[in-house]
Amino acid sequence: MTITVQFEYAKRKKGCLGKEEEGEKVTLDKDAMEPSVMPEDRRKKRPPVTIRQLEIDDLAEVFHLGEELFTADRVPNLYRTWDPYEVVSFYLSESEYCFVAEMDDQIVGFALGTTISKPRSAWKYAHLVWLGVRGDLRRSHVAERLFEHFKETVMEEGARILFVDSEADNETALAFFKKMGFGNPKEHIYLSLNLTERRKKPQSDMSPSKKRRAASPATSPSS
Ligand SMILES: CC(C)(COP(=O)(O)OP(=O)(O)OC[C@H]1O[C@@H](n2cnc3c(N)ncnc32)[C@H](O)[C@@H]1OP(=O)(O)O)[C@@H](O)C(=O)NCCC(=O)NCCS
Repeated sequence: MTITVQFEYAKRKKGCLGKEEEGEKVTLDKDAMEPSVMPEDRRKKRPPVTIRQLEIDDLAEVFHLGEELFTADRVPNLYRTWDPYEVVSFYLSESEYCFVAEMDDQIVGFALGTTISKPRSAWKYAHLVWLGVRGDLRRSHVAERLFEHFKETVMEEGARILFVDSEADNETALAFFKKMGFGNPKEHIYLSLNLTERRKKPQSDMSPSKKRRAASPATSPSS
Protein backbone atom coordinates (compact mmCIF):
# COMPACT_ATOMS: atom_id res chain seq x y z
CA MET A 1 0.00 0.00 0.00
CA THR A 2 1.36 3.38 -0.90
CA ILE A 3 0.16 6.66 0.52
CA THR A 4 0.55 9.97 -1.20
CA VAL A 5 -0.42 13.36 0.09
CA GLN A 6 -2.07 15.95 -2.04
CA PHE A 7 -1.71 19.57 -1.06
CA GLU A 8 -3.84 22.46 -2.02
CA TYR A 9 -2.70 26.06 -2.28
CA ALA A 10 -5.22 28.82 -2.43
CA LYS A 11 -4.23 32.42 -2.45
CA ARG A 12 -4.21 33.38 1.21
CA LYS A 13 -7.18 35.43 2.26
CA LYS A 14 -7.66 37.63 5.26
CA GLY A 15 -9.20 35.68 8.12
CA CYS A 16 -12.57 36.57 9.63
CA LEU A 17 -10.93 39.00 12.03
CA GLY A 18 -9.08 40.67 9.20
CA LYS A 19 -5.79 39.05 10.20
CA GLU A 20 -3.58 37.39 7.59
CA GLU A 21 -3.93 33.61 8.07
CA GLU A 22 -0.62 32.03 8.96
CA GLY A 23 0.89 29.00 7.28
CA GLU A 24 2.13 26.05 9.32
CA LYS A 25 5.60 26.34 10.79
CA VAL A 26 8.04 23.87 9.26
CA THR A 27 10.84 22.37 11.29
CA LEU A 28 11.70 19.19 9.35
CA ASP A 29 15.33 18.82 8.46
CA LYS A 30 15.50 15.43 6.74
CA ASP A 31 17.56 15.61 3.57
CA ALA A 32 20.66 14.01 2.17
CA MET A 33 22.31 17.35 2.78
CA GLU A 34 21.25 17.72 6.40
CA PRO A 35 20.40 21.41 6.58
CA SER A 36 20.87 21.56 10.34
CA VAL A 37 24.60 20.94 9.93
CA MET A 38 24.96 23.38 7.07
CA PRO A 39 26.72 26.65 7.81
CA GLU A 40 24.35 29.58 7.85
CA ASP A 41 25.99 31.28 4.83
CA ARG A 42 25.65 28.07 2.77
CA ARG A 43 21.99 27.84 3.70
CA LYS A 44 21.22 31.39 2.70
CA LYS A 45 23.49 31.49 -0.37
CA ARG A 46 21.69 32.46 -3.57
CA PRO A 47 23.49 30.87 -6.51
CA PRO A 48 23.44 32.79 -9.82
CA VAL A 49 20.56 30.81 -11.26
CA THR A 50 18.35 31.97 -14.12
CA ILE A 51 14.76 30.77 -14.35
CA ARG A 52 13.34 30.48 -17.85
CA GLN A 53 10.82 28.52 -19.86
CA LEU A 54 11.62 24.94 -20.95
CA GLU A 55 13.01 24.76 -24.49
CA ILE A 56 13.47 21.87 -26.89
CA ASP A 57 17.23 21.71 -26.35
CA ASP A 58 16.67 21.19 -22.60
CA LEU A 59 14.68 17.98 -22.90
CA ALA A 60 17.52 15.45 -22.56
CA GLU A 61 19.16 17.35 -19.70
CA VAL A 62 15.90 17.68 -17.78
CA PHE A 63 15.19 14.00 -18.28
CA HIS A 64 18.61 12.94 -16.98
CA LEU A 65 18.42 15.24 -13.95
CA GLY A 66 14.97 13.82 -13.20
CA GLU A 67 16.34 10.28 -13.49
CA GLU A 68 18.66 11.08 -10.56
CA LEU A 69 15.84 12.54 -8.48
CA PHE A 70 12.82 10.38 -9.25
CA THR A 71 14.19 6.87 -8.90
CA ALA A 72 11.48 4.21 -8.60
CA ASP A 73 12.33 3.46 -4.95
CA ARG A 74 12.52 7.11 -3.82
CA VAL A 75 9.53 8.50 -5.65
CA PRO A 76 7.38 5.56 -6.72
CA ASN A 77 4.69 7.64 -8.32
CA LEU A 78 2.14 5.14 -9.53
CA TYR A 79 0.08 7.16 -11.89
CA ARG A 80 3.00 8.92 -13.55
CA THR A 81 6.44 7.67 -14.30
CA TRP A 82 9.50 9.68 -15.06
CA ASP A 83 10.46 8.73 -18.58
CA PRO A 84 11.43 10.54 -21.78
CA TYR A 85 7.83 10.50 -22.98
CA GLU A 86 6.74 12.39 -19.86
CA VAL A 87 9.21 15.22 -20.44
CA VAL A 88 8.45 15.43 -24.16
CA SER A 89 4.70 15.47 -23.62
CA PHE A 90 4.99 18.30 -21.08
CA TYR A 91 7.08 20.22 -23.58
CA LEU A 92 4.60 19.62 -26.40
CA SER A 93 1.40 20.35 -24.54
CA GLU A 94 2.27 22.48 -21.49
CA SER A 95 5.47 24.35 -22.26
CA GLU A 96 4.10 27.66 -20.96
CA TYR A 97 3.85 26.01 -17.52
CA CYS A 98 7.29 24.38 -17.59
CA PHE A 99 10.40 26.11 -16.26
CA VAL A 100 14.04 25.30 -15.81
CA ALA A 101 16.69 26.74 -13.51
CA GLU A 102 19.97 27.26 -15.32
CA MET A 103 23.42 27.95 -13.93
CA ASP A 104 26.71 27.98 -15.90
CA ASP A 105 24.89 26.64 -18.97
CA GLN A 106 23.60 23.64 -17.01
CA ILE A 107 20.07 22.76 -16.00
CA VAL A 108 20.05 22.54 -12.19
CA GLY A 109 16.32 22.35 -11.57
CA PHE A 110 12.92 22.20 -13.20
CA ALA A 111 9.20 22.65 -12.57
CA LEU A 112 6.71 20.97 -14.90
CA GLY A 113 3.03 21.62 -14.45
CA THR A 114 -0.31 22.10 -16.08
CA THR A 115 -3.68 23.80 -15.66
CA ILE A 116 -7.04 22.08 -15.62
CA SER A 117 -10.46 23.53 -16.42
CA LYS A 118 -13.48 21.43 -15.56
CA PRO A 119 -16.64 21.51 -17.64
CA ARG A 120 -19.43 23.58 -16.06
CA SER A 121 -17.01 25.04 -13.53
CA ALA A 122 -15.73 28.59 -13.56
CA TRP A 123 -12.73 27.49 -11.50
CA LYS A 124 -9.41 26.83 -13.09
CA TYR A 125 -6.92 24.59 -11.30
CA ALA A 126 -3.18 24.29 -11.62
CA HIS A 127 -1.14 21.19 -10.88
CA LEU A 128 2.60 21.32 -10.29
CA VAL A 129 3.49 17.78 -11.26
CA TRP A 130 7.29 17.56 -11.19
CA LEU A 131 9.67 19.76 -9.23
CA GLY A 132 13.34 18.93 -8.74
CA VAL A 133 16.65 20.58 -7.91
CA ARG A 134 20.16 19.15 -8.27
CA GLY A 135 21.46 17.74 -4.99
CA ASP A 136 24.39 20.11 -4.47
CA LEU A 137 22.17 23.18 -4.78
CA ARG A 138 19.52 22.21 -2.27
CA ARG A 139 18.42 24.78 0.29
CA SER A 140 19.58 27.61 -1.98
CA HIS A 141 16.01 28.64 -2.82
CA VAL A 142 16.20 27.36 -6.38
CA ALA A 143 12.96 25.37 -6.00
CA GLU A 144 11.32 28.38 -4.38
CA ARG A 145 12.17 30.53 -7.39
CA LEU A 146 10.90 27.86 -9.80
CA PHE A 147 7.73 27.55 -7.78
CA GLU A 148 7.18 31.33 -7.72
CA HIS A 149 7.53 31.49 -11.51
CA PHE A 150 5.04 28.67 -11.94
CA LYS A 151 2.61 30.22 -9.45
CA GLU A 152 2.75 33.68 -11.04
CA THR A 153 2.19 32.19 -14.50
CA VAL A 154 -0.85 30.11 -13.54
CA MET A 155 -2.32 33.00 -11.55
CA GLU A 156 -2.03 35.22 -14.63
CA GLU A 157 -3.91 32.48 -16.51
CA GLY A 158 -6.71 32.66 -13.95
CA ALA A 159 -5.96 29.57 -11.83
CA ARG A 160 -7.47 29.81 -8.37
CA ILE A 161 -6.31 26.60 -6.73
CA LEU A 162 -2.90 25.00 -7.04
CA PHE A 163 -2.31 21.30 -6.30
CA VAL A 164 0.83 19.34 -5.66
CA ASP A 165 1.26 15.79 -4.49
CA SER A 166 4.00 13.86 -2.84
CA GLU A 167 4.71 10.51 -1.25
CA ALA A 168 3.74 10.72 2.42
CA ASP A 169 7.31 9.95 3.51
CA ASN A 170 8.98 12.51 1.24
CA GLU A 171 9.56 14.81 4.18
CA THR A 172 11.76 17.20 2.27
CA ALA A 173 9.07 17.83 -0.32
CA LEU A 174 6.39 18.14 2.37
CA ALA A 175 8.49 20.66 4.29
CA PHE A 176 9.10 22.61 1.11
CA PHE A 177 5.44 22.70 0.11
CA LYS A 178 4.30 23.69 3.58
CA LYS A 179 6.84 26.50 3.55
CA MET A 180 5.42 27.65 0.23
CA GLY A 181 2.02 27.99 1.86
CA PHE A 182 0.33 24.69 0.96
CA GLY A 183 -2.08 23.16 3.41
CA ASN A 184 -5.21 21.07 3.62
CA PRO A 185 -3.34 17.80 2.94
CA LYS A 186 -5.48 14.88 1.79
CA GLU A 187 -4.26 11.32 1.92
CA HIS A 188 -4.54 9.17 -1.14
CA ILE A 189 -4.14 5.43 -0.75
CA TYR A 190 -3.02 3.08 -3.50
CA LEU A 191 -3.72 -0.63 -3.12
CA SER A 192 -2.01 -3.35 -5.10
CA LEU A 193 -2.86 -6.90 -6.16
CA ASN A 194 0.01 -9.16 -7.10
CA LEU A 195 -1.05 -10.78 -10.37
CA THR A 196 2.03 -12.97 -10.66
CA GLU A 197 0.79 -14.98 -7.62
CA ARG A 198 -2.46 -15.75 -9.46
CA ARG A 199 -0.61 -16.88 -12.55
CA LYS A 200 1.28 -19.49 -10.52
CA LYS A 201 -1.97 -21.36 -9.60
CA PRO A 202 -2.59 -24.57 -11.67
CA GLN A 203 -4.75 -23.82 -14.66
CA SER A 204 -7.54 -26.11 -15.82
CA ASP A 205 -7.96 -26.76 -19.55
CA MET A 206 -11.63 -25.90 -19.33
CA SER A 207 -12.70 -22.43 -20.42
CA PRO A 208 -14.87 -20.41 -17.94
CA SER A 209 -17.99 -20.95 -20.14
CA LYS A 210 -17.40 -24.73 -20.27
CA LYS A 211 -17.01 -24.74 -16.47
CA ARG A 212 -20.34 -22.92 -16.07
CA ARG A 213 -22.13 -25.36 -18.40
CA ALA A 214 -20.68 -28.35 -16.57
CA ALA A 215 -21.81 -26.97 -13.20
CA SER A 216 -25.42 -26.18 -14.14
CA PRO A 217 -27.99 -29.08 -14.37
CA ALA A 218 -29.24 -29.90 -17.87
CA THR A 219 -32.69 -28.37 -18.44
CA SER A 220 -35.11 -28.62 -21.32
CA PRO A 221 -38.12 -26.35 -22.10
CA SER A 222 -40.53 -29.29 -21.53
CA SER A 223 -39.21 -30.33 -18.12
C1 LIG B 1 11.88 19.36 -2.67
C2 LIG B 1 12.99 20.11 -3.43
C3 LIG B 1 12.48 20.44 -4.82
C4 LIG B 1 13.31 21.40 -2.64
O1 LIG B 1 14.31 22.11 -3.38
P1 LIG B 1 15.26 23.20 -2.75
O2 LIG B 1 15.80 24.04 -3.85
O3 LIG B 1 16.26 22.55 -1.86
O4 LIG B 1 14.28 24.05 -1.82
P2 LIG B 1 14.47 25.58 -1.38
O5 LIG B 1 15.91 25.87 -1.11
O6 LIG B 1 13.79 26.47 -2.38
O7 LIG B 1 13.66 25.56 0.00
C5 LIG B 1 12.78 26.61 0.36
C6 LIG B 1 12.30 26.34 1.77
O8 LIG B 1 11.64 25.04 1.84
C7 LIG B 1 11.96 24.42 3.10
N1 LIG B 1 12.80 23.21 2.88
C8 LIG B 1 13.37 22.80 1.73
N2 LIG B 1 14.07 21.66 1.94
C9 LIG B 1 13.95 21.37 3.26
C10 LIG B 1 14.46 20.34 4.11
N3 LIG B 1 15.25 19.38 3.64
N4 LIG B 1 14.12 20.35 5.42
C11 LIG B 1 13.34 21.34 5.93
N5 LIG B 1 12.84 22.35 5.18
C12 LIG B 1 13.14 22.36 3.87
C13 LIG B 1 12.77 25.44 3.88
O9 LIG B 1 11.87 26.22 4.64
C14 LIG B 1 13.41 26.26 2.79
O10 LIG B 1 13.75 27.58 3.18
P3 LIG B 1 15.08 27.85 4.14
O11 LIG B 1 16.20 27.07 3.54
O12 LIG B 1 15.27 29.33 4.06
O13 LIG B 1 14.72 27.36 5.50
C15 LIG B 1 14.28 19.26 -3.51
O14 LIG B 1 14.60 18.78 -2.24
C16 LIG B 1 14.22 18.08 -4.49
O15 LIG B 1 14.53 18.23 -5.67
N6 LIG B 1 13.83 16.87 -4.01
C17 LIG B 1 13.78 15.64 -4.85
C18 LIG B 1 12.61 15.64 -5.82
C19 LIG B 1 11.28 15.76 -5.10
O16 LIG B 1 11.02 15.09 -4.11
N7 LIG B 1 10.41 16.68 -5.62
C20 LIG B 1 9.14 17.02 -5.02
C21 LIG B 1 7.98 16.16 -5.50
S1 LIG B 1 7.71 16.26 -7.27
